[in-house]
Amino acid sequence: MGENLELRSVAPGTGLEGATLIAGVMDGLEPVPGSEDAVAGVDPALLEAAGFEGKAGQVVALPHAVAKVVLLVGLGDEVSFQTIRAASGNAIRSVKTERAVSLLALVGLDEATRAVAEGLLLGGYQFRSYKTDDKALDANAVDIVDADPDELELARIASEATALARDWVNTPSMDKSPASLAAVVQEAVEGTGVEIEIWDRPRIEEEKLGALLGVAAGSDRDPRVVVLKYRPDGASKHLVLVGKGIIFDTGGLSIKTAAFMEEMKDDMAGAAAVMAATIGIARRGLSVDVTAIAPLTDNSVGGDATRPGDVLRPVDGPTIEVLNTDAEGRLILADGLGLAKRFDADLTVDVATLTGAAAVALGKQVAAVFASDSEVAQQVIGAANRAGEEFWELPLFRGYRKSIDSNIADIKNISGGRYGGAIVAALFLAEYAGDGPWAHLDIAGPARREETTGEHVKGASGVAVRTLIELAGDLAGTG
Ligand code: BES
Ligand code: MN
Ligand code: ZN
Repeated sequence: MGENLELRSVAPGTGLEGATLIAGVMDGLEPVPGSEDAVAGVDPALLEAAGFEGKAGQVVALPHAVAKVVLLVGLGDEVSFQTIRAASGNAIRSVKTERAVSLLALVGLDEATRAVAEGLLLGGYQFRSYKTDDKALDANAVDIVDADPDELELARIASEATALARDWVNTPSMDKSPASLAAVVQEAVEGTGVEIEIWDRPRIEEEKLGALLGVAAGSDRDPRVVVLKYRPDGASKHLVLVGKGIIFDTGGLSIKTAAFMEEMKDDMAGAAAVMAATIGIARRGLSVDVTAIAPLTDNSVGGDATRPGDVLRPVDGPTIEVLNTDAEGRLILADGLGLAKRFDADLTVDVATLTGAAAVALGKQVAAVFASDSEVAQQVIGAANRAGEEFWELPLFRGYRKSIDSNIADIKNISGGRYGGAIVAALFLAEYAGDGPWAHLDIAGPARREETTGEHVKGASGVAVRTLIELAGDLAGTG
């Protein structure tokens, strides 16, 4: 994990011996502010031979007079938080010494320190629990020249919360039953000031979470609901988060084909995001009440599995005719949102790997936002922009609502058509979200990254964690 990397703030020119010097270069070989001397010290013939032009994503290591080596990282044609974060991510994986010195915080942007540190920590993330060769990053410390210590701390909290979510999602489903994942979360909240409740099957039955129980019916592993509560003194707003926690999505009796099932250990990424973000928010000490609700269950096949045509009764809101057991996320979220209503939130946000259709619409790098009104959507998108994540709004178009009218129950869980699947799912959730401000984040695309580049590492992305922390910061600031 990235958090083994120590980050320190140092004065210019200190401790270069034996270290790797990280310098930033823009497209056309123009050094960014702060990196001029480092780049001027490089033999132009060597640069030319290396084919380095300063393009985004490029990294070359060359001899340096004082440091052991200078790592030139390309920023492309723009100096922004995004390009700095990406360049730092690319750099950290190329460092072959134990220590590095980064000049990138000197680019002249306020808060550049945060982008540098996030790039290093997020890009240096590794999930090694199941690897026998156990090879860590070569670097164990980076000295960031003239770094702002407060920004370093913000970056560390955001990156560690992201790493926590990545770890939970990357863990194979055999090793994260609802009960054992809940226990791992219990350990993670220790000492953070976040309180945890873990509801077992009897409690879930007592609470009448009929939709969650319906999804869990095909599995030998009992469901859980994790409720996290962060209640700082003096908070005046309440953010309620709900996350989809399908431990593994076989599709149930409406079973998936092998190719579509392959990556379904990711299907608790929404739950992971809301739980990890709550820990990050608490570590930040943000002055906002937060409640995170994570229904956890497998969607399996079994003799008692819910059948197409069965009708489920969630704790609150319309009864549901289940016509496709693979549209299970919206079922457990119906119960999650039903519980959320009890808290009378200033803002409710659910996060879910909900539909393949969202990934078809926006691709694998952009998450969908649906919201009770466009102002709420813009608030989420603003938070995402500051956090360095990509969220775009899709419409909660009411015209498709009647496609989920049911013949025998109040509502059915699929429209039956192929088109607008992400919107139909969002309209379904809207039935349970209540009348207050609400946003639904469909992260089915970006929950997993397909390649390692910049701050992104192949595998679970931890998407939405940093956006949710920023969003909580918004609410805390408007007390
Ligand atoms: N977990 C899947 C959605 C998903 C697909 C997440 C791809 C990540 C990558 C969800 O439970 C599902 O199966 N959705 C169905 C809904 C359909 C049956 C209406 C889908 O998207 O095909
Ligand atoms: Mn499914
Ligand atoms: Zn699913």
